[in-house]
Amino acid sequence: MSRVFITGSSDGLGLMAAQLLVEDGHQVTLHARNAARAADARRALAGAKDVVVGDLSSISEMRRVAEQVNALGRHDAVIHNAGVGYRERHRTETADGLEHIFAINVLAPYLLTALIARPDRLVYLSSGMHTGGTADLDDPQWIKRRWNGSQAYSDSKFYDVVLAFAVARRWPNVLSNALEPGWVRTKMGGTSAPDDLSLAPVTQVWLAVSDDAAAEVTGQYFYHQKPRRVHPATHDVKLQNELLAYCAKLTSVPLPA
Ligand SMILES: NC(=O)c1ccc[n+]([C@@H]2O[C@H](COP(=O)([O-])OP(=O)(O)OC[C@H]3O[C@@H](n4cnc5c(N)ncnc54)[C@H](OP(=O)(O)O)[C@@H]3O)[C@@H](O)[C@H]2O)c1
Repeated sequence: MSRVFITGSSDGLGLMAAQLLVEDGHQVTLHARNAARAADARRALAGAKDVVVGDLSSISEMRRVAEQVNALGRHDAVIHNAGVGYRERHRTETADGLEHIFAINVLAPYLLTALIARPDRLVYLSSGMHTGGTADLDDPQWIKRRWNGSQAYSDSKFYDVVLAFAVARRWPNVLSNALEPGWVRTKMGGTSAPDDLSLAPVTQVWLAVSDDAAAEVTGQYFYHQKPRRVHPATHDVKLQNELLAYCAKLTSVPLPA
């Protein structure tokens, strides 16, 4: 039995992954953006052990989530699943003055990774769209560029893989991997998404808890439990260090050694 914390598990793939884990006898901590969504999550999955609450668009709320998770005790695995999508028509700024897709999709997994008691396994939800990501940190807040929601999402999912690989390199005792679930019919994926929804939560569960040798790897990128082509720049150590340093500067929290 493993203890697993899943961000953004009031709905979609996070909730589906939680359901698979509970069915398999694991202890799951859910996460929702506010008390009302936490109540929804509890109703959706009565077998979950706990629910923590916090809006991941805000740095102070990210901290609050980490505090709640740590108060529950160490988890064996954390699945960084919460995310917002690619149909955002306008650049939206958070209370911290950050572009909100970057804040939720990139900065939140960074800060939670840095603040939550170190688990044995970390899993980061990326997307096939990461291959179109901008492979630098010239304008992560979309200040210089004309807004393009799809590109902002691709960039965020590219940074998620960079983050997963950076953590894999910095923390050799932790298994840190990323994956794409396929384009599936969730709130984010939309009704015309073509891929198999039932397969979409399987790989993150497998990476979080399986003792299959193929899952006990680190610094890898998967699709449906198989290694998948990844943007080559995600392996760039200089870029990995730049992303960690940038997130550390924004949050005043360096990734612990
Ligand atoms: N669906 C796809 O086709 C697809 C494809 C590739 C990658 N992915 C990735 O898979 C992950 C899960 O996506 P999904 O399809 O399951 O999306 P979803 O159905 O929209 O669910 C997203 C989850 O994240 C939560 N969330 C969003 N913003 C939040 C915030 N500010 N604070 C706290 N929680 C927040 C949502 O809470 P609420 O329910 O309260 O909104 C929900 O629980 C994402 O990282 C996404 O990028 C999905």
